[in-house]
Amino acid sequence: MIQLSNISKRFETPGKVVEAVKHVTLSIDKGDIFGIMGFSGAGKSTLVRCINLLETPTEGTVTVDGVELTGLSEKELRQARKNIGMIFQHFNLMPSRTVFENIAYPLKGRPKEEIEKKITSLLELVGLSDKRDVFPSQLSGGQKQRVAIARALATDPQVLLCDEATSALDPQTTTAILKLLKQVNRELGVTIVIITHEMAVIKEICNRAAVMEHGEVIEQGDVYSLFATPQSPVTQGFINTSSLAQKVEELDREGSPVVALKPGEQILQLTYLGMGASQALISEVSRKFSINCNIVFGSIEIIQESPLGRLIIIASGREGDIAQAIAYLRQQKVEVEVLKQCQK
Ligand SMILES: Nc1ncnc2c1ncn2[C@@H]1O[C@H](COP(=O)(O)OP(=O)(O)O)[C@@H](O)[C@H]1O
Ligand SMILES: [Mg+2]
Repeated sequence: MIQLSNISKRFETPGKVVEAVKHVTLSIDKGDIFGIMGFSGAGKSTLVRCINLLETPTEGTVTVDGVELTGLSEKELRQARKNIGMIFQHFNLMPSRTVFENIAYPLKGRPKEEIEKKITSLLELVGLSDKRDVFPSQLSGGQKQRVAIARALATDPQVLLCDEATSALDPQTTTAILKLLKQVNRELGVTIVIITHEMAVIKEICNRAAVMEHGEVIEQGDVYSLFATPQSPVTQGFINTSSLAQKVEELDREGSPVVALKPGEQILQLTYLGMGASQALISEVSRKFSINCNIVFGSIEIIQESPLGRLIIIASGREGDIAQAIAYLRQQKVEVEVLKQCQK
């Protein structure tokens, strides 16, 4: 649905050149809820503005729904943009117009009856049927974002771009807006691109995501893999996966008996999908490979409605047996990392 090929964007201001986006190639499929995460200044907004050509890339091509936008005339581009809706952190509603008038804005020139019908159904979709004649100042943040979503959907776009759309909202409202976006994705089949610096947002609704740093995409993949096996330090920092491993390190530094090892023992971190299987798997490897496994602590997160489990265990036994157990666990799609080892 969206193909970005070798996109770069350079801003040249007097005395300064900023390479906001550098050689980004991304492909987003129809029906994806694609997350782009990264710290402030990473180039996320610039990249997403390149998708609808609000920013003209310095190099590279943008193709949306089979149309190469970078090859269009100004007039053709205006038409093509109707296929791409966008919402923002601060909603960007027109304060002197009512909810109805705000949503009607992109429908200018269409028959009155059609506009009336369209807006009635959009208001219903976003749950604001009773607010059609009020002004934005009379709405809460969450309601304003609902109006913005309705306005972005007015032209029946195939793609919806969301730039920090929940960053100005409280956690409860964020959850409600994400639920609405999910509904828009499922019921209307709209492909959604979500830019955020909040991991929780990615975890909650994205199926795939990319991580940006200094204008580059440094990592991308399906959200579960990003969470289970983040490769770059930035992603690891975001996800804070290392939190369990860090805890082990801290306890170790403090000389805690919890992580003190006897000769031949190893501390392992196991990461796997689903919690139910873990108990059975651990007793199975203990039996099969004649090793002992002591669970030290664990955590569980829900990613894309699937539980992602992490366990810290102390394995003891013959070194070769532990190595075989690790190989077996990896075969069972359990990620295994050796955090600490006590040599004989
Ligand atoms: N219009 C502009 N003119 C000059 N520099 C810009 C402009 N827009 C963004 N930048 C710079 O590009 C970099 C990336 O910004 P941005 O895309 O907004 O990052 P993010 O959305 O990840 O916070 C920053 O260094 C920012 O200052
Ligand atoms: Mg931004």
